[in-house]
Amino acid sequence: MAAGDAEQALTEAGEGILPGGLARVYPLGTRLGPGGRLEIGGCDAVALAREFGTPAYVYAEDDLRERARTVLEAFAARTARCEVLYASKAFPCTAALALFADAGLSCDVASGGELHLALAAGFAPERIHLHGNNKSDAELEHALDAGVGHVIVDSFDELARIARLAPGSGQRVLVRVNPAIEAGTHAKIATGQQDSKFGIPGELVPAAAERCTAAGLDLRGLHAHIGSQVFDLEVYGRLGEVLSGLGDFPVIDVGGGFAVAYTRDQSPPSADAYAEAMLRALPDGVRVLCEPGRSLVANAGVTLYTIGTVKAIPGVRTYVSVDGGMADNIRPMLYGAEYEADLADRVGDGDPFRVVGMHCESGDVLIDAASLPAPRPGDVLAVPATGAYGHAMASNYNAVPRPPVVFCRAGDARVVVRRETYDDLTARDV
Ligand code: LLP
Repeated sequence: MAAGDAEQALTEAGEGILPGGLARVYPLGTRLGPGGRLEIGGCDAVALAREFGTPAYVYAEDDLRERARTVLEAFAARTARCEVLYASKAFPCTAALALFADAGLSCDVASGGELHLALAAGFAPERIHLHGNNKSDAELEHALDAGVGHVIVDSFDELARIARLAPGSGQRVLVRVNPAIEAGTHAKIATGQQDSKFGIPGELVPAAAERCTAAGLDLRGLHAHIGSQVFDLEVYGRLGEVLSGLGDFPVIDVGGGFAVAYTRDQSPPSADAYAEAMLRALPDGVRVLCEPGRSLVANAGVTLYTIGTVKAIPGVRTYVSVDGGMADNIRPMLYGAEYEADLADRVGDGDPFRVVGMHCESGDVLIDAASLPAPRPGDVLAVPATGAYGHAMASNYNAVPRPPVVFCRAGDARVVVRRETYDDLTARDV
């Protein structure tokens, strides 16, 4: 083949940047190498699968940094008094936490374990903020001893508990409010509606404020989180109105919930648009906290699998089985979440295939109908937008060791969380 022909063939196979829609779901900087081979953080995805095994959670480090910078700038451009908290539940990984601490974010933790990780990753204690609708005595003591920035109080019982554990501590607290706002998202991840386990109703805020004073706590302000994967910006405007209508407080925390693109047809609002909507109804001079989790990490991560079997059921459909599934990504089963998938050595469309995991349940379906060009056993399958709540909610179902986390940058790859071993599976036996 003449050089020119070869070049033409490569172009047809898709060398270069990802075609429009797909670029939305893959990490920033993802490109196609020769023959349409997927490159994440400058690393060939098939080579990553060979080196680190599959399944593996692969992240582009530059994507994490860039998204942190973008959201920080979006808020800083509109107010000098703001703090962007990384909601660590989305990807509770020490290396990511350390990267975000270095990038200038603060941290939202929702358990003693997340607090432990945030401290280990190097967040200054005053930049850590503790949430949770049922914090234990031990978790509260841990947070108070560490000197966290705020405890976000979720109930009257919790107020009584802090008062008993640390009378007159002067701990800074926010009161979590139930704003009675429907976020218009999946019911399992909506939190701001009136019928919710989170927060206290707005009309009880004055009583909560009195209890804070009586308990020697420093009530700084209010918090609310209306839900996750929220596309409708209007609800954040309403949230601002509700919170500012509940009194004059120096701090308002408007929560997280910024939406991301899981599939190529989704276009979530920009960080600028969220900042604008969240700040619109808040009074000047108030210190604003926000807590994105998913939007900082989801699109930075791609899960790599190896296809083991391709099974045609004549007249029905063809099943493509991979070496992971519901244990490394429970989101399709839990929320009906939809994902894209591509063959790592020949990105492109083809016939529809149902991509299923290796676990012993029929519901272990990762993608109902992925468009793939003639998948074969041994192919590496990439599922993008798995950086949030995948590693975070992974299990050992079927006694499968959990996958490693690999960070890629400028062509170098490093393991930041190793793969579990069979010995890890028996390590807690007594
Ligand atoms: N702040 C609070 C108080 C939260 O409860 C959450 C998420 C966030 C911030 C961050 O929300 P994000 O920006 O990530 O949407 N497992 C579910 C998501 C549950 C989120 C729970 N709280 C999923 O995989 O979609």
